[in-house]
Amino acid sequence: MKKKPVKIVETAFRDAHQSLMATRMSTEQMLPIVEKMDQAGYHAVECWGGATFDTALRFLKEDPWVRLRKLREGFKHTKLQMLLRGQNLLGYSHYADDVVDYFCRRSVANGIDNIRIMDCLNDIRNLKTAMKATQAEGGRAIVALVYTLGDAYTLDYWKDVARRIEDMGADELGLKDMAGLLTPYRAEELVRALKETVNIPVAVHTHYTAGVASMTYLKAVEAGCDSIDCAISPLALGTSQPATEVIAETFRNTPYDPGLDQELLGEIADYFARLRDEAMESGLLSPRMLGVNIRTLQYQVPGGMLSNLVVQLKEAGQEDRYQEVLEEIPRVRKDFGEPPLVTPSSQIVGTQAVLNVITGERYRMTTKESRRLLQGEFGQTVKEPDPEVKKKITGDAPCIKCRPADLIPPQLPQFEKECARWKKQDEDVLTYAMFPAVAKEYFQYREAQETRIDIGVADVVNGVYPV
Ligand code: CO
Repeated sequence: MKKKPVKIVETAFRDAHQSLMATRMSTEQMLPIVEKMDQAGYHAVECWGGATFDTALRFLKEDPWVRLRKLREGFKHTKLQMLLRGQNLLGYSHYADDVVDYFCRRSVANGIDNIRIMDCLNDIRNLKTAMKATQAEGGRAIVALVYTLGDAYTLDYWKDVARRIEDMGADELGLKDMAGLLTPYRAEELVRALKETVNIPVAVHTHYTAGVASMTYLKAVEAGCDSIDCAISPLALGTSQPATEVIAETFRNTPYDPGLDQELLGEIADYFARLRDEAMESGLLSPRMLGVNIRTLQYQVPGGMLSNLVVQLKEAGQEDRYQEVLEEIPRVRKDFGEPPLVTPSSQIVGTQAVLNVITGERYRMTTKESRRLLQGEFGQTVKEPDPEVKKKITGDAPCIKCRPADLIPPQLPQFEKECARWKKQDEDVLTYAMFPAVAKEYFQYREAQETRIDIGVADVVNGVYPV
């Protein structure tokens, strides 16, 4: 059989700690192991985007752009990859094209090679600006299908969107299963269909949440998928990805052998094992994240969404209604045009289901996000929303048929103006655009750090105070 090594993308620096440790890995914790990781034979290291940007600023008091530049300096052979939520970038609502364009360009200019771009509704109009900007700056655009289950999501649906993604000019097709719903034989069938449909490489991403992910990769690779995302063993399994070493060993001496250096992987694992132990001890990593959550498959709801529901019900003092909410979620999802359940649509559908149950009347109380979703402000849903529900929530307000960002005038000049007071580098305006309040707090912190003057005890004793 002809050799066709599967490419391995290591997620330790992005999805793995986002899934297991609330995205709290700091740059300082990453850098000591970069040199070894760079030699291990990874195709790419996913290390930026997703929730890392927000968490770095908000909790770690770190500039994400500085992290990116340091990683780029360290990784001399390995490609750097990031995750981007299409027109939402790393935030939760749509941005104007000028912001999306500038963000992608600066990401590539600062060291990102591959940008994986997704949209929560699989509305490819929301992916185009980011894709074009990535490519214009010399980056590779991996445009991803967000995987979900439901009546509308037939093999023909996936093939159709995949074809349109290829026609749009994507360098690679991603299959992003953030909820861990892709079971082995479904993966085999889907990957085979996608490979028959497009000529660009197909990358599969899944989570271990439901306990099937390693088998899913096995079948996906046999069916022809070109690359898979794995996490080094101490940061693998549970809500994270299959373990890198296990997958590499599985394919060793087969046509799919990714050619990773197991010796080095062992040393890399030793390093992350210490981090994992610390996280376990501090409670940052909960053993609950590591088990198999079969409910994910049962209810077709992402694991993270389930834990959010528990919190919402607890706050309302109605924890005993969990089961009712679980049953309400698919109904709300149907009413809303059957969107995939990923950020931000998962929060919108989940919250609405909670409201429907605890108020005792469906859609008596609604959120502004439910209204915006039904008005088309996130893009087009795969099916038309239920007309009665839509009328009840949006009233006579007009709905958007065009690409939502077409209605947003350029935003960069205003963002520039608002953050001018704090600006120290070009990228600061993008940091500000993503999370204005958090960015401002970080800029203030940064300024305080810079103006703080270290003086020695001797100076004080000698009465020398800097002015
Ligand atoms: Co993921």
